[in-house]
Amino acid sequence: MSEKLPNALAYSHQLLKHIISRGNTVVDCTVGNGNDTLLLANLVGKTGSVYGFDIQQTAINHTHDRLKANGLNEENIHLFTASHSQLDHFLPKKSLISAAIFNLGYLPGGDKSIITHPESTIEAIKGCLNHLKQNGLVVIVIYYGHPGGQTEKNAILDFGKSLDQKKFAALTYQFINQKHEPPFVLVIQNIAPTVKNS
Ligand SMILES: C[S@@+](CC[C@H](N)C(=O)[O-])C[C@H]1O[C@@H](n2cnc3c(N)ncnc32)[C@H](O)[C@@H]1O
Repeated sequence: MSEKLPNALAYSHQLLKHIISRGNTVVDCTVGNGNDTLLLANLVGKTGSVYGFDIQQTAINHTHDRLKANGLNEENIHLFTASHSQLDHFLPKKSLISAAIFNLGYLPGGDKSIITHPESTIEAIKGCLNHLKQNGLVVIVIYYGHPGGQTEKNAILDFGKSLDQKKFAALTYQFINQKHEPPFVLVIQNIAPTVKNS
């Protein structure tokens, strides 16, 4: 390898690019400034669908504007001002997704007191796993340096460790010798055959 190992964010994008094809259905569970939404929209193309969630209306508005500015057809991109824990109400029944992405913590440049919380995050991860195709990925970038971040990190790792290894593969990607609690990735793959039809 002639390049540096990617940081957590870059690694999460590598995983998404690897698993997502044109026409797929995918979910952005923490839309924020829309960086991941934009990537997902480009990866699925006009024939795919993106479902995005954020509890902050400003984040959803900003991302709508950003998609438009990038010439992306919004008809196949569905953004909701709603908690990701509600995603099952918004995704078409029996739909299968090839990937979901989470960026936990607070919105950079926004209100730092609005953060993701373990209960709703785990509810949302479970919702994504229920819709995940065989070999599909739920990619979670875990920021934990802020107040409340450690608790969320520990709860999510405990959840990941509790998953049945016959159904899911769960792994972390983390630099263990860096200062200041850099983010790391938890990725969960559905390794069992799925029966839902998309
Ligand atoms: C780290 S930021 C996301 C950054 C984003 N992926 C980007 O590309 O800019 C975390 C986001 O999660 C949102 N959030 C917090 N709790 C949420 C919830 N229960 N459901 C959906 N979004 C939530 C926050 O409003 C914030 O915008």
